[in-house]
Amino acid sequence: MKFDESWSVGQVDLDWIEATSAPVHPILAEIEAMAEPRRIPIVSRAVGRALAAMAAGRPRIVEVGTAYGYSTLWMALAQHTDGRIVTIDPDRERTDLARAWWRRAGIPDERITVINEPALSAIARGHPALVGPFDLVFLDALKDEYLGYLEGLLPALVPGGVVLADNVLWSGRVSGARPMVAGRDDVLGLRDFSQAMLNDGRFAATLLPVDDGLLVATLRP
Ligand SMILES: C[S@@+](CC[C@H](N)C(=O)[O-])C[C@H]1O[C@@H](n2cnc3c(N)ncnc32)[C@H](O)[C@@H]1O
Repeated sequence: MKFDESWSVGQVDLDWIEATSAPVHPILAEIEAMAEPRRIPIVSRAVGRALAAMAAGRPRIVEVGTAYGYSTLWMALAQHTDGRIVTIDPDRERTDLARAWWRRAGIPDERITVINEPALSAIARGHPALVGPFDLVFLDALKDEYLGYLEGLLPALVPGGVVLADNVLWSGRVSGARPMVAGRDDVLGLRDFSQAMLNDGRFAATLLPVDDGLLVATLRP
């Protein structure tokens, strides 16, 4: 229950959270500055901070959708220095840039393994880096494939492990707050994914209305 029912979160609150949080690592700020003009879709700072909070204490992470490695770096910086991340993106041009930023941020190469192929095919052929076990799964690639990613990676998730997925509200289109463009598989895929996760007894799951919506689900031990 709110302290005052007439109030809802606004820009002043968001600005205060940003101003009060630890400063953003300079390499993260550099990636933001490169991604924006090139229209590379990276997670928001708010989601980055949430990923960091969840990644700390979780040494084995798998991420689907690397792009410039912004979300990867939020998690790598939060993990213990022996943490490991496997991240999947078929776009080698993007992940080569990501690798250079990770190095400049002081992350040793052996901490982050990149798989340059479509996630579903890497999962289907049993890529050795995807055997697991994993403590955290982060989904941020093709929206109509989220359920497929999860089904493929779930056997490798440890009991008590966490699934995070970005964009699950898809700017109001998943809930119907804004009209869906006809035939959009991403909206339907995200809706199916969230409905499945929120009703799957194996998980304690919720959607946090952070930025474009962040699904958080813990696999019950
Ligand atoms: C939203 S971006 C990822 C952003 C990144 N997580 C971040 O916040 O810094 C989505 C990425 O998914 C990649 N992608 C596209 N198809 C894919 C697939 N089949 N499997 C894995 N990644 C894919 C794209 O190349 C793109 O770089």
